[in-house]
Amino acid sequence: MRQKNILWIVAAATVALLGGLWWRQQNSAALAALPPEVAQAMAMVQAKGCAACHSHDGAAGIGPSWRGSWGKVREFTGGGSAVFDAAYLRESISAPAAQLVQGFPNLMLPVGLSEDELQQLELLLRYLAEPNSGVAAADG
Ligand code: HEC
Repeated sequence: MRQKNILWIVAAATVALLGGLWWRQQNSAALAALPPEVAQAMAMVQAKGCAACHSHDGAAGIGPSWRGSWGKVREFTGGGSAVFDAAYLRESISAPAAQLVQGFPNLMLPVGLSEDELQQLELLLRYLAEPNSGVAAADG
């Protein structure tokens, strides 16, 4: 069991590293086309490592994609659910293991984001919930 966890962590770290390198190369031009505050938020989640596990384009990753997630109902492993809103966002970042999104492993570590960073993240998630927000093209 412990060995399996270590494998997951190694896999996640590799994905994070390669994803980060790839993203940096591919997206500098595409980012310029986004509203500046969205581009800033994307750079922030990239710098924090979130983008390695959470895609912006709906593609399945280690964690749930952020595309179209704002306002949706999340079902949890073992029962219960919540609407993806500002309160849920804060809870799932400060205590990710407390409620696991159904179908996903317990792999996210708690992160400390400043109030400003939380607001940037909320803005990004709201943007990614708009149809045709152009992020699919920007983020592959
Ligand atoms: C190692 C991979 C990994 C990294 C890095 C990571 N997460 Fe997660 N995250 C997950 C997984 C897996 C889940 C689903 C399980 C759970 O609910 O904890 C998740 C769940 C979430 C959720 C609830 C999502 C939902 O769709 O309902 C939020 C919000 C979130 N992460 C934000 C972040 C933020 C912000 C960062 C960066 C500061 C981050 N994550 C970094 C793996 C990761």
